[in-house]
Amino acid sequence: MTVLVTGARGNIGGRLVARLAAGGHRVRASARDAAALEAPGGVEAVELDVTAPDPAVLRGVRTVFLYPVFGPVDDFLKAADEAGVEHLVLLSSPASYEPVEHAGPIGRAHQAVEASLRESGLSHTVLYPSWLATNAIRDWAEAIRATGRVGIAHPRWQVNPIHIDDIAEVAARLLTRDEHRGRTLVLTGPESMPQREVVARLAEAIGRPIAVDELSREEATARLPEWFPEPVFASLLDVAEAAGDTPATINNNVERLTGHPARSFRAWAEAERDAFTAR
Ligand SMILES: NC(=O)c1ccc[n+]([C@@H]2O[C@H](COP(=O)([O-])OP(=O)(O)OC[C@H]3O[C@@H](n4cnc5c(N)ncnc54)[C@H](OP(=O)(O)O)[C@@H]3O)[C@@H](O)[C@H]2O)c1
Repeated sequence: MTVLVTGARGNIGGRLVARLAAGGHRVRASARDAAALEAPGGVEAVELDVTAPDPAVLRGVRTVFLYPVFGPVDDFLKAADEAGVEHLVLLSSPASYEPVEHAGPIGRAHQAVEASLRESGLSHTVLYPSWLATNAIRDWAEAIRATGRVGIAHPRWQVNPIHIDDIAEVAARLLTRDEHRGRTLVLTGPESMPQREVVARLAEAIGRPIAVDELSREEATARLPEWFPEPVFASLLDVAEAAGDTPATINNNVERLTGHPARSFRAWAEAERDAFTAR
């Protein structure tokens, strides 16, 4: 059986490919630019834009890990159906249903992919992971390396960082066993903490102090990198503002699905130390 992993260059997709390959599964890893894909030995690398698919990439595929791409996925799902794909695991986001965020651009984009999947009639499982630990690299690594400080608009906003290995482990299981099909699974990290505390844990893990500067909405928006869409950032600020001090939801689904407690943010940060310290 072949597992097709879309977004194999992505943080989660990359870990998933490695995990499936290490488990002896036949993996087809895809990226929009296959030449840029560094797949482990034995893994087949193919080019695939999910919004403009070549049906040939689905030949012999039994299960698919699907990224919540922006754009229509109906042709891909039709091709998957025609190729006899048995099951898909969709990476989605709680933005799809959470108050405030569901009505914004992130929520709507995820809802669109979920709706297409539902309407396709294909068997699927939807994953709703909480705040990705990798957000710390995306949002803060550059500033920490350059200045040892981070600017945050809502440092009291509580998040529940999830280790991406936990998501990859759950996905690998669902792609290779006939379990939890037709379900939606909320996956969270083990602990809710304010973003200020996330930074403190990061500082402990890398062995260097990190100062937190509380920013106004305008200041935070002015610092936004060019690649980050402003409406998406505005929606995140709305979410953080509305949440106040409310703890983020925590559940034990990672443990129920993997047999071990959810990995800590600290463990993730220690493994990713170089991202925050190396030149
Ligand atoms: N940030 C959070 O806290 C959070 C929380 C819950 C859920 N999520 C979800 O998790 C995602 C981030 O996961 P990540 O960090 O693993 O992602 P990532 O590293 O940013 O990678 C995204 C992947 O999506 C692929 N992709 C995008 N458009 C595509 C298309 N049209 N066809 C095929 N592949 C396409 C990219 O493929 P290429 O290599 O071809 O570019 C890339 O590999 C978010 O987008 C969100 O949906 C995020």
